[in-house]
Formats: sequence, structure tokens, C-alpha cells
Amino acid sequence: MTENALDSRLAVVILAAGQGTRMKSSLPKVLHRIGGRPLVGHVLDTARDLAPAHVVVVVRHEREQVAAAVLGVAPEVVVVDQDEIPGTGRAVEVALDALEGFDGDLLVLSGDCPLADADTLGAFVSEHRTAQADATLMTAVIDDPTGYGRIIRESDGSVARIVEQKDASAEEAAVTEVNAGMYVFAATALREHLPQVGTANAQNEKYLTDTVALLRRAGRRVAASVAEDATVTYGVNDRVQLSEVGRLLNARTVRRWQLEGVTVLDPATTWIDVTATLAPDVTVLPNTHILRSTSVAEGATIGPDTSLVDCEVGRGATVTRTDATLAVIGAEATVGPFAYVRPGTELGERGKIGTFVETKNSTIGEGSKVPHLSYVGDTTIGRNVNLGAGAITANYDDLTKHRTEIADEVHAGSHNVFVAPVRIGEGAKTGAGAVIRKDVPAGALALSIAPQRNIAGWVENNRPGTGAAEAAARARSAQEAGDGSQEAAHG
Ligand code: UD1
Ligand code: CA
Repeated sequence: MTENALDSRLAVVILAAGQGTRMKSSLPKVLHRIGGRPLVGHVLDTARDLAPAHVVVVVRHEREQVAAAVLGVAPEVVVVDQDEIPGTGRAVEVALDALEGFDGDLLVLSGDCPLADADTLGAFVSEHRTAQADATLMTAVIDDPTGYGRIIRESDGSVARIVEQKDASAEEAAVTEVNAGMYVFAATALREHLPQVGTANAQNEKYLTDTVALLRRAGRRVAASVAEDATVTYGVNDRVQLSEVGRLLNARTVRRWQLEGVTVLDPATTWIDVTATLAPDVTVLPNTHILRSTSVAEGATIGPDTSLVDCEVGRGATVTRTDATLAVIGAEATVGPFAYVRPGTELGERGKIGTFVETKNSTIGEGSKVPHLSYVGDTTIGRNVNLGAGAITANYDDLTKHRTEIADEVHAGSHNVFVAPVRIGEGAKTGAGAVIRKDVPAGALALSIAPQRNIAGWVENNRPGTGAAEAAARARSAQEAGDGSQEAAHG
């Protein structure tokens, strides 16, 4: 959505005061997340795209938590508190009080309906204005209307009233046209009629939906707009709907990137947060999660079985079966399979973090490789370094973390332990199995292993009767016989 000019005649009210009982959660419903944002965050984002003069969010249940989350992402929003009178009608009434003097159009949205996009809502507001209505409801026809308010129409097709699930007769409950919970009201009409709404219903709540019949009775114009795509109206009341709505949002996100030139092999098992960005010619393989502020540059291949959280992946890089968080992966670099890339990892261009490698708070320079079975933490590695299999940086001495520095062109042998703080100088080499406790000067070969000593016959002497002793004995007699025949041949 492009930046719109401010619409001074539009105010958006987002209802977020309800308890969300059906979620059975200690977290307020509107703070449950899909696509990398809380439910209410998606609604706020859409509201902002419409460039209204005011956005009001109504809170009550866990008000501190909800208000903090809202103001954290949208500080310009006005947060108002609902009092002890329950119901969506009361929520809108307190919002109207906060909008004193506003006589434009009020777009009412629910914090638990995250799928309505700005294009849909923009068109909805326009429809209301063109029809010069006092109220316009969004409705949808859905197969299973359970839980929603039903739209009861007159014989002439106009909307007569809305009846809630809990107040509906069997006949009314059979209606499949439902109230989406999104409305545009002329603020003045609503101010006049909302106070007349009572609480005599199955839930003892002041229903916003009751204003429809009241406005009709007062001779006001009530219009309805049937959503072409019913899914934009879906709300979250329980955790089944949370996953369904999450899947729909994700499908929309994946499709958007596909149309932007990203190959996604299996949309059903690919999860992309709305906050992530992907460049053309990126390939995403199955079971892959691209989350938070992750960005992936052109031509990179991610997956299968990979999770990237707040990562920056360079052009043409390959990340396979990897879990990475807050990491930078350079252009043409390769990561995985089976790598655990922790915060603060920076892998340079053409670098490699290979199989069963864990990294943390470390820079690995251009063209440098940590190919197999290693832990690299609190380390700075220069360019064109190669660490042998099983390299471990021992960065922790029970008290504090220390850094390891491995300069350009170092080639380390297999199974080295670098006991930090320690520095390996430019171009140095280390032997297999070395435990490096002291700095290695540039160009030196560092060895820390005592010479190997073989004690002949030890197993036969000390482990008689074992399979090992028998195998050793067989090898010894074969060796002796062989020596004999060799002697004969030479003889
Ligand atoms: C509401 C509608 C229903 C519609 C459905 C669409 C009413 C009476 N019913 O039902 O017709 O089909 O939405 O999704 O409006 N809230 C407050 N204060 C309150 C109660 C609720 O701010 O006192 C907020 C909630 O946080 C939520 C929204 O209003 O974001 C809707 O409340 P909810 O209890 O989910 O209403 P539904 O039963 O879904
Ligand atoms: Ca709801």
C-alpha cells in the first residue's frame, strides 16, 4: 500500500477490550501472534494504511499489556479504557467520547480480525460514502456461521437487524450470512442512537449490533456490503481459528512473494512473517520459516528444514537444514546442513559454516571455512581461514567469556581446542589434536601433543581372554608367518 493523503473525515476504532475467554489463555487474545505480529498489530497496520485522522484503540482486559503493545508499534494511537459496562456497543461509545467533536465517518474494526486488508477496507469506506448511508455493515456468507452474529434481512432485501448466536432462534441460526464485525458509521448518527442500546440479552452486554435495528427504526439509512472473499472477515475466538487465520495470512504472504519472483516449492510448509523481505530469484525449499525482520537477497536458496529469525542472507547464499537467529550470512556463503547459527554470527562472502557446527557472537571472514563438527563462540576469524573438523573455541572459564582471534590464512588441524583468550597469527598452522593455550605467532606451526608411544603386546598381557587379545594374537601369528615366508623368498 502506498502512502495515502490524510483522510480528515475518517476515524478508525479498534476494539480490543474483550477477554477472549475462548482462547483459554493468560495472554490477551489480541496479543496472540500470527505472521510475526500480534492480531491487533495487523489491524493497526491496516488502519494506518487508510491514513485516518484518528485511530482509537479500546482496552480493558489486561489493559497495561495491550496498551503497551499497541503504543509500542503505533505511538500516535489514542488508547481509551472501557468501563465496567461490557459489550462492543459500550466499547464504541467510550471511543466516541474520546473523539469529541468528530463528525466524520467511523470505521469500526475488531482487534481479533486481522485479515481485512487496506484495499478491502478502503473500498468499504468508499461504498459507505457513495451510498450516503448512516451505517454500512460488512457481511459474509460462510458455510459454518457458528459463533457469528446473523444478518436478518427484510423481504425487500434490506438489513433489518443482527442477531447474536446466543440470542438466535433455530431459524435465525440457520442463516449463513454473518456480521463481519466491521462497520462504517456516520459518527453523529451513532452518537445519537448508541445510548439507547440496552443489555437485555443472553450475555447481558451492550451490543454494537443492536444499533442496526435502532437506526432502521429511526429512519436512518443502513447499507450492507457482502465481502467477495469471505476469508477477509474471519475472526479469531479460539486457538483452532488462530491457526486457520494464521494459515490464511501465510498463504497470502507466500503468494505475494511468489508473484514478486520468489520460488516457493511448498507453500503449505513455508512460513513467512509479514515483516520479512525476499528478493527475486530466491528459492525457498519445504519446511522453512523465514521470520521477523529477515531479509534474503537475490538468488539465495533457503531450506529445506530451515528457520531464519532476524537474519540477513546475502546474494546467492545457500542455507540448508539450519536454525539461525540474528545472523548475517554473506553473499555466496554456504551454511549447513545441520548448523546452529546463534546471535552475533557474521559469515563473510563465500564463507562456510558446515555440518554440525554451532556459532555465536563470531565473525568468520571472507572465504573462511568451519566445515565440520565445531563450536565457534566469541571469535574473530580473518580471511581464507580453514578450521579442521572438531574445532572448539573454549570461550568460557567458569567466570567470564573470552575471545579467540584467528588471523587471515590460518590452517588449523583437526580436533583443536582454542583456549581463550588466545590469538593465532597470520598464516599460522596447528597440528591435529592441538590444545592451543598460548598465542601462536604468525607463520608458526603449533603442536601441543606429546610424541606417541606404542607399548607392544600390552593387550595380550593385560586383557587375556578378550576378543581384543585374541584378535591381537591372530594378527601377531599372521605377521610372524608372513615374516617367515618373506625370509624364505628372500633366502
Ligand atoms: C462480534 C459481533 C458479531 C460478529 C463478530 C464478528 C457483537 C455483539 N457481536 O461477536 O455479530 O459476527 O464479532 O467477528 O458485536 N470487545 C471490546 N469490549 C467488549 C467486548 C468485546 O472491546 O466489551 C472487543 C473484543 O476485544 C474483540 C471485539 O470487540 O476484539 C469482538 O468481541 P468478541 O467478544 O470477539 O465478539 P464476537 O462474539 O466475536
Ligand atoms: Ca470475535
